[in-house]
Amino acid sequence: MAEKKLGVWITGASSGIGRAAAKEFAKIGCDVFASARRTTELERLKKELNKEKLSIDLYPCNVASSANVDQVVKKITSSHKINCLVNNAGVTTFKKAADNSIQEINDVINTNLLGSIYAIKYVLPYMIADGGGTIINVISSAAKKIFTSSSAYTASKMGLMGYTNVLREEVRQHKIRVINIYPGATETPMWPQDVRKKNSERMMTSEKIAGLIVWAFLQEGNMVSEEIVVKPIQGDL
Ligand SMILES: NC(=O)c1ccc[n+]([C@@H]2O[C@H](COP(=O)([O-])OP(=O)(O)OC[C@H]3O[C@@H](n4cnc5c(N)ncnc54)[C@H](OP(=O)(O)O)[C@@H]3O)[C@@H](O)[C@H]2O)c1
Repeated sequence: MAEKKLGVWITGASSGIGRAAAKEFAKIGCDVFASARRTTELERLKKELNKEKLSIDLYPCNVASSANVDQVVKKITSSHKINCLVNNAGVTTFKKAADNSIQEINDVINTNLLGSIYAIKYVLPYMIADGGGTIINVISSAAKKIFTSSSAYTASKMGLMGYTNVLREEVRQHKIRVINIYPGATETPMWPQDVRKKNSERMMTSEKIAGLIVWAFLQEGNMVSEEIVVKPIQGDL
């Protein structure tokens, strides 16, 4: 680990993959800025880490609000650098297109797609001024393979894949690395309880995905793993 503390902003850090990533980044000595809507869950994580003599800073944020994202980025950057953004906040519905309400469709697109775009948009000027940075997007295998009952989710993830693939080409000149991770089924609260119970042995863990995120961030020199697809060894659910 480098002598200087590196700043990592993680969205969706109150649960699942984001929570595990906050822990992993804290363990390797990064300044972790943890965001999500549920402040009580963020506080719980902070307390848990404090017991292990680790610390993180909490920045409650609803990524679906561009104003809120703007505010939070301003707050973090007033005293710290954001060397890495982990765009992880996400929601889904597991419903067929005909059964999704407009509210559910809006929630999925506004959080997964627009929320990630807002975070990128507000962090980018700081990374450009800083001469580099890393943007890690937790996309999904749903952007690479078709699964039913996930139309809005797939649209949001394919949209983010498209946006970030273009972004990557635009920001190479600024030494900003854009890393897209496409995890398959990972056991987190995103899945219904019965699916988690039935497939717990088969699904990947948040900790493993978090380890991969940290590994991707720590790659040194002029090398970058731009696209990382990970699946359970026994395949998709
Ligand atoms: N689990 C899987 O199998 C899997 C596979 C591929 C990709 N992914 C992706 O991995 C990411 C993390 O999901 P997970 O599986 O860890 O699910 P999770 O445990 O449900 O975590 C989702 C996180 O997103 C946050 N979030 C949701 N809406 C938000 C908003 N509007 N503003 C800020 N934060 C928000 C939640 O916090 P609050 O509710 O406190 O805001 C929570 O911390 C998602 O992007 C998901 O699509 C998951």
